[in-house]
Amino acid sequence: MPVVMIEDNTNMSVHEMYLKLKRMLGDYIPDFELRYKAELAVEINRLKVEKNAVILGHNYMEPALYHSIPDFVGDSLELSRKAASTDKDIIVFCGVRFMAETAKILNPGKTVLLPAEKAGCSLAESITAADVRALKERFPVAPVVTYVNTYADVKAESDICCTSGNAAAVVRSLASETIIFLPDEYLARNVARETGKRIIFPTPNLNLNLGPNLMIGWRGRCEVHEKFTVDDIRRVRAQFPDVVILAHPECSPEVVEAADFAGSTAAMIRYVEQTVAPRYLLLTECAMGENVAAANPAKEMLRLCSVRCPHMNEITLEDTLKSLQLNRYVVEVPEEIRVRAARAVERMIAIG
Ligand code: 13P
Ligand code: SF4
Repeated sequence: MPVVMIEDNTNMSVHEMYLKLKRMLGDYIPDFELRYKAELAVEINRLKVEKNAVILGHNYMEPALYHSIPDFVGDSLELSRKAASTDKDIIVFCGVRFMAETAKILNPGKTVLLPAEKAGCSLAESITAADVRALKERFPVAPVVTYVNTYADVKAESDICCTSGNAAAVVRSLASETIIFLPDEYLARNVARETGKRIIFPTPNLNLNLGPNLMIGWRGRCEVHEKFTVDDIRRVRAQFPDVVILAHPECSPEVVEAADFAGSTAAMIRYVEQTVAPRYLLLTECAMGENVAAANPAKEMLRLCSVRCPHMNEITLEDTLKSLQLNRYVVEVPEEIRVRAARAVERMIAIG
């Protein structure tokens, strides 16, 4: 599925941009803020052309940014593909660090800018390259599948990467009886169930005679998606029995099981666009609910949103403007790590 190219905002005047944001977001963003953000967005778009840059926006970007400056929006997999194929000189990645690193891994000749200095991720921080090497020593026959929500040195230790959009397909593509799947515990459990595999988590005394059809997981968690519970779903269904509930596969298996659909951020967006239901609830990062609601004004979206990803929230219009003005923060990946990480990411992209 191709990445989504959004309405061309590049040549809009401040007034046109303000009117667009007002139409889409005016119900809940104050007017003075929309006017201010329209000015920032138009200046960013002007500089983007001047510097021959492309702006990639993850689906979790805050609504005013999401609807004004990206040339392309999408999930991790779609944006990786876009980063790999762009002919622009600069890639400004409005997302978190591991995503910007993936862009650099795939297209090393380009300058990749991340508008915030850190923009981390609880999953990426849950595992190190040394952890992966230790697992490979313990389980030498098992190929390592690594979720893209990891840093480049962890990808470099891996055989193949995956995203939430293709994790089951990646696991099915491997012939091995035992597969190491890192680092998201819940995504691993969800994929194990989908592919009919058993899953275990290594402890120091784990019996090494592992048996067939097995995934070895790691206990990383997304600090946003781990917060949703089956009780949340029960309460909403009690009040709105006809609601359709969508969950990201970083939610617990119990939550995914109780939802009506699970998929990557882009898969959830497509599901809402392509179905007709009385109302929807998205169990994912808050800003995405607002973005989907703004793009689908005829559809009723329930809000269960107290959980904003603090790392995605670091990316603002102000910092994106500074990023283009000052050429900051340049994302670098040491070549020796990049080459090995690229093998794992490109193997994934070849699977789709
Ligand atoms: P997607 O690949 O589904 O966009 O997810 C990325 C992410 O960080 C989810 O928390
Ligand atoms: Fe990481 Fe979770 Fe934030 Fe996605 S939502 S970037 S997985 S912390």
